[in-house]
Amino acid sequence: MEGRQPARWGVLLCLTVSLLLQGRGDSFTINCSGFDQHGVDPAAFQAVFARKPFRPVTNYSVPTHVNISFTLSAILEVDAQLQLLTSFLWMDLMWDNPFITWNPEECVGMNKLTVSAENLWLPDIFIVESMDVDQTPSGLIAYVSSEGRIRYDKPMRVTSICNLDIFYFPFDQQNCTFTFSSFLYTVESMLLGMDKEVWEITDTSRNVIRTHGEWELLGINKATPKMSVGSNLYDQIMFHVAIRRRPSLYIINLLVPSSFLITIDALSFYLPAESESRAPFKITLLLGYNVFLLMMNDLLPSSGTPLISVYFALCLSLMVVSLLETVFITHLLHVATTQPPPMPRWLHSLLLSCTSPGRCCPTAPQKGNEGPGLTPTRPPGPKEPGELGKEVRPGETELDGDSGWTKTQLVELWVRFSLAMDALLFRLYLLFMASSILTVIVLWNT
Ligand SMILES: *[C@@H]1O[C@H](CO)[C@@H](O)[C@H](O)[C@H]1NC(C)=O
Ligand SMILES: *[C@@H]1O[C@H](CO)[C@@H](O)[C@H](O)[C@H]1NC(C)=O
Ligand SMILES: *[C@@H]1O[C@H](CO)[C@@H](O)[C@H](O)[C@H]1NC(C)=O
Ligand SMILES: *[C@@H]1O[C@H](CO)[C@@H](O)[C@H](O)[C@H]1NC(C)=O
Repeated sequence: MEGRQPARWGVLLCLTVSLLLQGRGDSFTINCSGFDQHGVDPAAFQAVFARKPFRPVTNYSVPTHVNISFTLSAILEVDAQLQLLTSFLWMDLMWDNPFITWNPEECVGMNKLTVSAENLWLPDIFIVESMDVDQTPSGLIAYVSSEGRIRYDKPMRVTSICNLDIFYFPFDQQNCTFTFSSFLYTVESMLLGMDKEVWEITDTSRNVIRTHGEWELLGINKATPKMSVGSNLYDQIMFHVAIRRRPSLYIINLLVPSSFLITIDALSFYLPAESESRAPFKITLLLGYNVFLLMMNDLLPSSGTPLISVYFALCLSLMVVSLLETVFITHLLHVATTQPPPMPRWLHSLLLSCTSPGRCCPTAPQKGNEGPGLTPTRPPGPKEPGELGKEVRPGETELDGDSGWTKTQLVELWVRFSLAMDALLFRLYLLFMASSILTVIVLWNT
């Protein structure tokens, strides 16, 4: 132990002295004599490799300039519940190492050289939003040029946090940010820059991107605010990556079937209200819609309330409302045909003024009893409301005595009222449906 200690110090001293000598003497030019016979001499680079732990600068008050660029090569997954974007990118770093220079003419015309990256000082650039440990594969290579410019590319699988807004699902665009920054070096030691324009990055990424799945790349923007943590100021470069969902899967599987079902529901109002088949038909539709929703549930984002859920809820409630309407009309018709209550005068005149004058209607309570009841062929005639009122008033008072309107006429009036009610509610339903679906579509388009 005691014998080895001086030896170790000697080695260190030798190394330091040789480093200093090399540094001062030939301004760090690599002596590549013999490269043409034996390949690259590792001893020639030993001085550079020995400096690996330290930032390669000759003057420590000069910051290292690192140029950053990246290529987005895949968008793997967008997780709305965890608010994570998983993507794959190639990060491209470039910086100068003033301790590596050689004269290409002396060195068998060699302009650049690959060096195992683990022998070199590497800038500690990371992505601020990344929520994953760096899974950079080992054994990467860096290019070193004869002027000492080092280019280092590394593939990265980045799981980055991203503020995802799924309100407009499936017509949504997301804007995720990649912030490249040094983990430790402040602006006094490291400055970040770019040697490429952002549109070049966008174009390369568009050409390279392998995934033609759900997401497509819209564009990349850049911002370079400095980040301050405490009293330290860190340089950083931000890229806003805009991606858009391809909605066709969701249109075909969610919107089209749902629209068909709601259209059938609207059209089922044309089934005659008197026939007993309307309500079962609507119940079947409602059941079918529920099954559809159950099956398609896993296509929907599992968190938040996207507009499409509101749309589905709207369709479901429209179906429920139309079923309720059918129940109401069926009940009305049932009451009308079995035990019609006396019809108030205002309701009668309203019915008369609302139904079209082209239709046949039992306006004359006195004469109506000649007809068979349900299908009176008498034209309505130019009766005035006031005139009608005079005629109805005695009828109403004598109704219980069955001298005003006969029961058949009353039944017919109530049936007509029910049908008019049905038509009115159908129009209201259509109006509500059209306006709400329009609202949803307008919201989707903004
Ligand atoms: C380069 O190294 C060789 C021996 O390896 C030596 O003979 C030669 O003088 C050196 N050249 C320079 C410029 O230092
Ligand atoms: C180092 O750089 C600083 C700032 O550029 C300069 O003021 C200083 O003189 C430099 N030192 C040497 C030894 O060159
Ligand atoms: C993304 O969001 C940032 C702010 O967070 C904004 O400056 C940038 O313009 C947005 N990009 C797009 C394409 O919307
Ligand atoms: C970085 O990019 C700038 C601008 O394109 C360029 O002037 C500079 O030489 C580059 N530096 C490195 C180390 O690549």
